[in-house]
Amino acid sequence: MVKIAPSILAADLTSLKEEIRRVEEAGADLVHIDIMDGAFAPNITFGPEIVRAIRKITELPLDVHLMINNPQKFIKPFLQAGSDILAVHIEASGNIEEAIGLIKEGKKKVGIAINPKTPLLAIEEFLEKVDMITVMSVHPGFAGQIFIPAVIPKIRELKDLIAKRNLKIEIEVDGGINTTTAPAVIKAGADILASGLGIFGSKDIKKTIKKLKEGIIE
Ligand code: DX5
Ligand code: ZN
Repeated sequence: MVKIAPSILAADLTSLKEEIRRVEEAGADLVHIDIMDGAFAPNITFGPEIVRAIRKITELPLDVHLMINNPQKFIKPFLQAGSDILAVHIEASGNIEEAIGLIKEGKKKVGIAINPKTPLLAIEEFLEKVDMITVMSVHPGFAGQIFIPAVIPKIRELKDLIAKRNLKIEIEVDGGINTTTAPAVIKAGADILASGLGIFGSKDIKKTIKKLKEGIIE
């Protein structure tokens, strides 16, 4: 069954502890934390300290999505803060190879994230080295954007590629995921759904997570 990673970017940050408790109790599998530097992404969000704080209040794996340039400079602090998965963007400037090496050294899961317009070809050389690929279904920057359906064939293609090469890589899809968009994404091959507004904006989080997991159209 697909795993659910609520993105705290859409949570009520004035009561983050309660928000995390809520998604935990509702069946979330991971916590998705969006890190933006105002350079790679047109927004500034969180740093390692928020990861450290969240680490203290949940046992769920922390899925840290780095939308930053020069990720290699920041891997160590994010590892020390308690990240379980660190995903770096293939489009980011800096040294992706070094960033991946540092995550591996820290014995944590390596993720590579890929923007909606970037072809899969860009990540092919890294396939053997990663545990997760985050296929972005919105442009990095904000929660609450509209899902880009053109990424569906890309998810399918990636799923085939992983199977063909006999690799163990989880596909995460991130951006605009809700009970309406999730079924096609799951059908295309997603293993993890990151979702901000779709979860934190819903009235009954437990029901929403259940529906997301079952791929039920609302
Ligand atoms: C976008 C972030 C996403 C975002 C998801 O830059 O990487 O993780 O927070 O939020 P929704 O599900 O609301 O698009
Ligand atoms: Zn994200």
